[in-house]
Amino acid sequence: MENTGKSSFVVVANRLPVDRVVAADGSTTWRRSPGGLVTALAPVMRAYDGAWVGWTGSPDDELAPFSTDDMDLISVPLSPEEISMYYEGFSNATLWPLYHDVIVAPEYHREWWDAYRRVNDRFARAAASVADEGAVVFVQDYQLQLVPNLLRRLRPDLKIGFFLHIPFPPPELFAQLPWRRQILEGLVGADLVGFQRGGAADNFVGLVDRYTDATAAERRVRMPDGRTVHVQPFPISIEVSEITGLLSDPDVVQRGTQIREEIGSPGSMLLGVDRLDYTKGIGHRLKAFGELLAGGDITPDEAVLVQVATPSRERVEAYQTLRDEIELQVGRLNGEYGRIGQPAIHYLHSSYERAELVSLLRAADVMVVTPLRDGMNLVAKEYVAARTDLRGALVLSEFAGAADELGDGAFMVNPHDIDGLKRTLLAAMRIDESEAEERMKLLRDHVLSHDITRWAQEFLATLRST
Ligand code: ADP
Ligand code: G6P
Repeated sequence: MENTGKSSFVVVANRLPVDRVVAADGSTTWRRSPGGLVTALAPVMRAYDGAWVGWTGSPDDELAPFSTDDMDLISVPLSPEEISMYYEGFSNATLWPLYHDVIVAPEYHREWWDAYRRVNDRFARAAASVADEGAVVFVQDYQLQLVPNLLRRLRPDLKIGFFLHIPFPPPELFAQLPWRRQILEGLVGADLVGFQRGGAADNFVGLVDRYTDATAAERRVRMPDGRTVHVQPFPISIEVSEITGLLSDPDVVQRGTQIREEIGSPGSMLLGVDRLDYTKGIGHRLKAFGELLAGGDITPDEAVLVQVATPSRERVEAYQTLRDEIELQVGRLNGEYGRIGQPAIHYLHSSYERAELVSLLRAADVMVVTPLRDGMNLVAKEYVAARTDLRGALVLSEFAGAADELGDGAFMVNPHDIDGLKRTLLAAMRIDESEAEERMKLLRDHVLSHDITRWAQEFLATLRST
């Protein structure tokens, strides 16, 4: 462990890029934190040599600044009560469902809001104490929307950027939020507010104009004090070289072949890789796959679905209900269509090393990405990056941010339309080699030329020029 001092570049996110895991014997290990934010930001952090302010994932962790994996980390402690009210409550049972089209009903509780304010204040103070004079501070995601304004009050010398990794909802949904004005005022504390898609930026600008004292039009917010806040879409991406680097190891490619053999060398291997979240449309995918088996369109020899469902937010009720529903669905389908040693669906509720994940991507004939709403969906881009062999097909929901960029090469689908989803899955399974190659080239042209390095350069150059 080492003291990191002050930094000219600071990332502030709810989670640190690593999670503390305490074993039964009390020993501590660190493992990569779940989710796309960490996948995207960790390489940015290494490139810009900054400090990362965030929570370790465990209660009451008061740690001195430390370094891991070439990153300087500053931990912000959360009490068990704050984890329950700020993280599981306001962040993941109020904002997450509200921002994802109210797929489940958001809950509004005043004590949760109080905890959200308190914790945002703590993050702002931690960032203020680590940022050098005139530093760039880059605040991340829905858990910390009050930080830009709180931080500006503490440190007017800083350049403050904010990026929302998830969708920003349409005005008629956002307007439900009892604290809508405070959230908007929190965000306009930044010099630059970034979103995944243009529509989200427009939603935000309209809401700021309507509910705050600022005036806003054409992606510029004019604050009462004369300051200008810039608003812009920056579709986030992945570190392509991390995936191609892993694939340069022949064992990773070979493991892909082995996975196919282990699942019985089916004609088509379909793959889903998602946090076990109700936004991901896992149930719709299972329903469509089940109906294809039931209707005899496919047999379990022809097609096998591997569904990785990463454990997520396990103490939040809607996630517990979802897990029960998905596992019931998988159990029923395997009971109906599986045979000894040959389930129709391989359901894996666990986290994997990056190399194993890339081998899985490489093994899959059809990558099935069917969220009902998703800020971006980096798994779709990871699949494309992993197909250096120009094989495989991507089925992609219209409701993922990635649809704006990958629509030409992917098989686009509305996951609510189960018949359409069934037809699309069949078409992707039956694609001929030359069409697959053509589509994959289109997909790769885009992903390879728009990776995370470019995203970070564009965001930070825009921020510096504000
Ligand atoms: P979200 O941010 O909502 O979780 P994304 O698709 O944008 O969704 O990002 C998910 C990230 O987590 C990807 O980088 C993906 O490779 C990684 N990931 C998903 N499931 C697992 C798993 N079971 N083990 C390891 N990494 C995973
Ligand atoms: C999404 C969110 C991130 C979050 C991640 C994992 O990617 O945008 O902010 O960190 O999911 O969720 P968790 O609640 O485990 O941090």
